Amino acid sequence: MTSDPLLALRPWEAPEVTSWGRLPMNAVDRRDGALPLDGDWRFQLLSAPHAPVGGAWSTSRVPGVWTMQGTDDLPQYTNVRMPFPQYPPASPAANPTGVYEREVDVPADWAGRRVVLQVGAAESVLLVHVDGRPVGVSKDSHLAAEFDLTALVRPGTSATVRLTVVKWSDASHIEDQDQWWHGGITRSVLLYATDPLHLADVTVRARYSGDLRVDCRVRDTGGALPAGWYLTGDLDGRPLAQDTEFDRANAEDERVSDFLGEARLLTTVPEVRTWNAETPELYDLTVRLHRADGTVADTSRHRIGFRDVEIVGRDLLVNGERVFIRGVNRHDFHPLTGRTVSYDDMRADLVLLKRFGFNAVRTAHYPNDPTLYDLADELGFYVVDEADIESHDHAHETADDPRYLGAFVDRVSRMVLRDKNHPSVIIWSLGNESDYGANHDAAAGWVRRHDPTRPIQYEGAAKLGWADPELASDIACPMYAPLEDCVAHALSGEQTKPLIQCEYSHAMGNSNGTLADHWAAIEATPGLQGGFIWEFWDHGILQRVSDGRPAGRGGAGLYDNGVAAPGYRWAYGGDFGETIHDGAFIADGVVFPDRTPKPAMYEHREIAAPVRIESYRHEGVVLTNHQHFRGFDWLAAVWELSLADGRTLTAPAELPELCPGETAAVPLPFALPEDGGEAWLTLRVTTARDLPWAPRGTEVCVPQIQLRQADVRREPVAAGSVEVDGEGLLVHPLLTVAPALSLWRAPTDNDELGGMAGRWRSWGLDALVRKVVSVREDAGQVTVRSEYAGTTGVVRHRQVFTPVAGGVRVEEEAELPEAFDDVARVGTVFETVAGLDLLEWFGQGPWESYPDRRAGAPVGHHSLPVDELFTPYLRPQESGGRHGVRRFTLSAPDATGLAVVLDEPRQVCVTRYRAEDLTAATHHDELVPRPGCVVHLDAAHRGLGTASCGPDTFPSYRVAPGVHRWSWTLRVL
Ligand code: GAL
Ligand code: MG
Repeated sequence: MTSDPLLALRPWEAPEVTSWGRLPMNAVDRRDGALPLDGDWRFQLLSAPHAPVGGAWSTSRVPGVWTMQGTDDLPQYTNVRMPFPQYPPASPAANPTGVYEREVDVPADWAGRRVVLQVGAAESVLLVHVDGRPVGVSKDSHLAAEFDLTALVRPGTSATVRLTVVKWSDASHIEDQDQWWHGGITRSVLLYATDPLHLADVTVRARYSGDLRVDCRVRDTGGALPAGWYLTGDLDGRPLAQDTEFDRANAEDERVSDFLGEARLLTTVPEVRTWNAETPELYDLTVRLHRADGTVADTSRHRIGFRDVEIVGRDLLVNGERVFIRGVNRHDFHPLTGRTVSYDDMRADLVLLKRFGFNAVRTAHYPNDPTLYDLADELGFYVVDEADIESHDHAHETADDPRYLGAFVDRVSRMVLRDKNHPSVIIWSLGNESDYGANHDAAAGWVRRHDPTRPIQYEGAAKLGWADPELASDIACPMYAPLEDCVAHALSGEQTKPLIQCEYSHAMGNSNGTLADHWAAIEATPGLQGGFIWEFWDHGILQRVSDGRPAGRGGAGLYDNGVAAPGYRWAYGGDFGETIHDGAFIADGVVFPDRTPKPAMYEHREIAAPVRIESYRHEGVVLTNHQHFRGFDWLAAVWELSLADGRTLTAPAELPELCPGETAAVPLPFALPEDGGEAWLTLRVTTARDLPWAPRGTEVCVPQIQLRQADVRREPVAAGSVEVDGEGLLVHPLLTVAPALSLWRAPTDNDELGGMAGRWRSWGLDALVRKVVSVREDAGQVTVRSEYAGTTGVVRHRQVFTPVAGGVRVEEEAELPEAFDDVARVGTVFETVAGLDLLEWFGQGPWESYPDRRAGAPVGHHSLPVDELFTPYLRPQESGGRHGVRRFTLSAPDATGLAVVLDEPRQVCVTRYRAEDLTAATHHDELVPRPGCVVHLDAAHRGLGTASCGPDTFPSYRVAPGVHRWSWTLRVL
C-alpha cells in the first residue's frame, strides 16, 4: 500500500471521484498577470500509476502530450471501440503515467496573497503534489483545474510542483471521442495570486434590449468577509449601478452569509450595438471588488456582447432573427503537437472558417481551448459548446450508472460555469454519442436552473423523438439524417423544435457531395435551420517515414499546400503500429492537417454567399441580400462576362443598398455581344475594407448566372485519314496510351465505406478485359467495336473516328448491362506524352468539382499547371476532376500540345496518376507521378455523396446502366 493519499485513492478507477481538493470553476479570467509555468518540465513515463518514480528524468514540453514527444507510448486512433478491453470503470494495469516536475519560484511580493495553481487540461487523471505533499486530483481532459496552494508555498522561496498524469482511467470510458488517444498536459499551466478577498465568480447577462446585469460572488479565504466590501463596474468607461433591490432582498431573506458575498451591477445601454455573428460588437466590462476603504482587492475584465437567444415555435432566434446555422465541428488538433493549439492556431482556424462562409462552430466533443471562445466572440461565430462526455463504446452502461452521475453533472456544469459569459455560446450540448440516461437529465436539470438563457441540445436524446418535449434536447439535432427525412419532418405539422443537424455532410476524403442540395432545401423549408459539417480537421499527424515517429514540433514547416515534405507523411490510424485502430476515418475534415482548404470549402463558401443572383430579366440582374443583420456596405464587386469564344469582359459593379432579405434589379453592365456563343455572368464579390478576418479584396463569393446557351454546331468531315493499330486503338503522336473505355475510379472513402467499391470490384470493373470485335474503315472513317468484360457482365463499346479539320472526332457509345447499375463513371481515358504541363479549360473551376459538388466552381476560362489540379487527399483516391468542361488544351511552354472539344459539358480529370496508381496507394508519399498526363473524359460520373458516414449521393447523381453516348474532337495545337 502506498503512503501517498492521492495514489491510495486510486482515482483512475473511481468514477465517483471527479476531483479532490479542486477549486470551483468560474468565469474570472486569471491569465493576465499570472506566472506562466509553460516550458520544459522534468519528466518520467511510468508503466503504471503505482510504479516507483526514481528512474532517469528526461524533459517534456508543457503544454504537450508525451505521445508526440519521443516516448515509446505513441498516438493511437480509434473511433467507437475503446483501445483496451476493460469495462467501465476499469482501466488496464499497463497504464502509462507521466510524472512532470519543476521548481517554481513564488514571487516574494505574493506574501499574504492567495496563491492558485491552474492546470489548463490534462488527460485523463491529474494528481497534484507540492513539495511532496498531496494537493488534489482532477478529471476532465478538456477543462482547467485549479488548486489553492496558499498554505503550501512560501512567497520568496521555491516549491517543487509535481503533476502526475494517468493516461487510462474510468474517465477514458466517457472520453471515447473519435480522435487520437494521447497522454499529457495539453493546455497551459500557470500560477496566479489574488487578495484573500476575491471575486469567486462573475456572471454576465447582456440582453439585446441593452440591459446588462452582472452577478458577482465574493469570498475571502481568510474567513468571514470583511465588513464594508463593495463592487463597482464600468462598461466602456460608463459606470454601472449597484442593484440595491437585490442587496435588500438578499439581506431580508438571509440568503447570503458572512462567507459568501453576492452583489449585482446593472445598467441599460441606450442604442446598444448588439452582437451577432455578422456584426460581433463587443464592449469592455470591468468589475472591481473594493475593501471598505475603497482600495481595490480584485478586478475582473470581460469582453461582452449584447444579444438574445430564444426558441419561438420551431425557430431558433438570435436577436429575434431566424439565423441559418452554417456550422462546422471543430476539435482542438494540431499535426505537430497532437492537441495543443496556440492563439495563432485558433485564430487561423476561425479566420479561415469566416472566409469560407461559416458562422457556427460545435466544439466537438468537449469544451475547446478557452481562447477559442474569445476569438469566436470577436470574429463572430455561434458556438454550440459541448461537454466532455462521449462513452461511445459503453454508452448504455454509463448513461444510467450512478457511479458516473457525478462525472456527468460535473463536466456539464463546469463547462457552463467557464463559458457562460461568452456571447458566442448560444447552445449548451450535453455531450456526444453517450446513449441517453438519467445522468443526462441530471446534467440538463443543473443547466436549466443555472443558465435559463440558452437552449440545451443533445443528439442522444433528440434521436428518440425529434418533437418530444420530454427529452433533454431543445433542438432536434440529429446526425447524418437523410435530407428527405428532415424535409418531411418540417412539412409534417408535427415539428416542435428547431431542426439543426449536429453533424452532417461527412467530409472524409473527396466528399461533401449534395451539400448544395441540402442548402437549397434548408433555405426553402421553414423549420430547417442548418447544421454542422463533420468536421473541420483531417487529423493527420506529421510522421517521419524512416522511423515511424511523430515529427513533433521539429516538423514545423515540413509541409505545404496539404502535402508533407519528402520523408514525411500524414499518419492516420494504424500508422504508429497500433493493432486496434480505425484507419483513415480520422481524416474526415474540410481542411488538410496543415489547414489547407479542401475544394469542398469553396462549395461551402458559395452556398453561404451573402449576395445572390436570383435571375436575369429585361430590367437587369436581380440580386438578393442573403444575410440576417447587415447590408452590402462591407462588400465590393466586379462583373465578369465569360464568353465561349474565349473572351472575358469585366466591369465595375455597384452593389445596391439592400436590407437583409431584400431584392433589387441592377442594370446589366455589358451590352451582351451578338457573337461569342455561350455566355456567363459572374459577380466577383470581395471585402471592401480590411476586416479582422480578411484584408480588403478577399474574395467572398462568386455568384453566377447563364445569359446565353451554347449553340450546337457539328463540324464537317474533312479529308484525311485516321490511323488505328491492329487492336483498333487510335494511333496519335501525342498519345502514349490510346483512348479506351473506363468504368473505374480510384474509390473515394465514400465509395469504399459506402460499399460501392466492393460491388464494383466484385463486378470486375477495376480490371475490365478489352477484346476488339471489329475494325471497319469507310471513306476515311474508322469504326471500332470492342467488348470490355467484367466478371458479371460485358460492356459493348464502339468508337467512330472521323477526320475533321486539323484533327479527329471520336464518337463513342457504351452499352452497360443491367448488372452494372450505379458504376463510378462511363468515359474515355488516354495518356499523353510528357511535357504538356498546363491545362486551360472552359468550364467549371478553377478548383476541383464533381457532379454533386459544383455550386462553388463558376463557369469560365481557367488555367492551372497539371501538377496543381490534383487534390492530395490523405488516402489517395479519385481526385482532381473538373465539372462542366466544354473544351480544354494541354500544352507545353512553347504552346504546342493538344486541344479537346467536348460535345457537351463533361466531367474531365487530368492528373499524373492512373486510377490504379491511386487505388494501390495508401498514403500520398507512395505516389509516383507519371511524366505524361492521364486524361479522363466522362460521359457520366457518379456523384460523391457522403456515404463514408451518412447519406449517399442522390439517385439523380448516379450512373445508370444502358447506353451512354459522347463525342469529342482531338487536335494538335
Ligand atoms: C459521428 C461522431 C463523430 C465522428 C463522426 C464520423 O458519429 O459523433 O465524432 O465519429 O461520426 O467521423
Ligand atoms: Mg463517436
